[in-house]
Amino acid sequence: MKILITGGCGFIGCNAAQRFMQLGHSVTVLDNLSRRGSVKNFAWLQTQGEFEFINADIRNAERMNQIVSDGAFEVVLHLAAQVAVTTSVIEPREDFEINALGTFNVLEAVRKHSPQAIVLNASTNKVYGKLSDVQVEGEATRCKLPALPNGVGETQPLDFHSPYGCSKGTGDQYMNDYARIYGLRTVNFRQSCIYGYRQFGVEDQGWVAWFTIAHESRQPVVIYGSGKQVRDILFIDDLIDCYLAAIERIDRVSGMTFNVGGGPDNTLSLLELMEKLRQHSGRGVVHSFEDWRPGDQPVYVSDIRKAKQLLGWQPRVDINEGLQRLHEWVGRNLEMFASPAIPA
Ligand SMILES: NC(=O)c1ccc[n+]([C@@H]2O[C@H](COP(=O)([O-])OP(=O)(O)OC[C@H]3O[C@@H](n4cnc5c(N)ncnc54)[C@H](O)[C@@H]3O)[C@@H](O)[C@H]2O)c1
Repeated sequence: MKILITGGCGFIGCNAAQRFMQLGHSVTVLDNLSRRGSVKNFAWLQTQGEFEFINADIRNAERMNQIVSDGAFEVVLHLAAQVAVTTSVIEPREDFEINALGTFNVLEAVRKHSPQAIVLNASTNKVYGKLSDVQVEGEATRCKLPALPNGVGETQPLDFHSPYGCSKGTGDQYMNDYARIYGLRTVNFRQSCIYGYRQFGVEDQGWVAWFTIAHESRQPVVIYGSGKQVRDILFIDDLIDCYLAAIERIDRVSGMTFNVGGGPDNTLSLLELMEKLRQHSGRGVVHSFEDWRPGDQPVYVSDIRKAKQLLGWQPRVDINEGLQRLHEWVGRNLEMFASPAIPA
């Protein structure tokens, strides 16, 4: 297949590109290289196989039309985004232009020039907001949602919270609607926390990788809130399996939305991650506490039963195995994370 990956030099994108190349697909990577670490990922990707690279910005509608029209892609994996809630609060217009308008540009380009293409969209659990109407209970190291033992399902009411929630939610809804109105073959993945190789986690985004990188490179971390926030975490390889399952079953799942994460069997709080890092290294994580950040959910766990049922997919890498793999990658590449900033 001919596959276009927008944001293909990001964390998820470069891992997806590597896998698609290994499977023998023809891969085109589009990225504006704005994310810290994306140039490093691009350089690494060049060691992994042959692919076409396009340095472009999804905000440029004309350019996106041209690229999709020239490319004759069978699959578009749309990952390019402004990814941090914190940045979206500081720069809401830029966040809107990349996530809402940029996603719209991708869809319009496909509608006009490649309407048979499968479009996979990386949406987010943030479209469900803070889940304020769901009762939260606190335990010693974590919060939990006693009323939702299987996690949050796709029927949970949408509640866009934070500019990032609004902009990603807009893209998410356009994906659904372009399937309804124009018959495009779109699939939305409302992803929880993804972690793994080549994730240049920073304080604002990618907390599992950020805590691991910071601890290994002896930088302190700040806990915003109680530290009992819980997420279901999903290892990168499992997410890509999920994308592949959707491509294989597109006739069945076109136009659908799936909550995708580690599910109830793979949950972790910030305090628990710090304890795992302490056990691994034999020294405590240097940390301090600050107030909660806007829109932060005390608990989010994906109900992945729909994905299991319709995609025949479930996570295979458990937390301990996944954290071990992340740790090894960080340990082998410590020079890349040298303070004060991760190089481009
Ligand atoms: N990583 C997670 O835990 C997670 C969770 C939920 C949703 N998501 C979504 O998955 C997608 C990929 O996330 P990631 O973790 O790989 O992020 P990332 O920041 O590592 O990758 C995003 C890539 O998009 C590129 N990009 C940004 N703006 C662009 C623009 N205007 N034009 C072209 N390229 C641009 C960046 O340079 C970067 O390489 C995003 O849409 C994100 O919202 C990620």
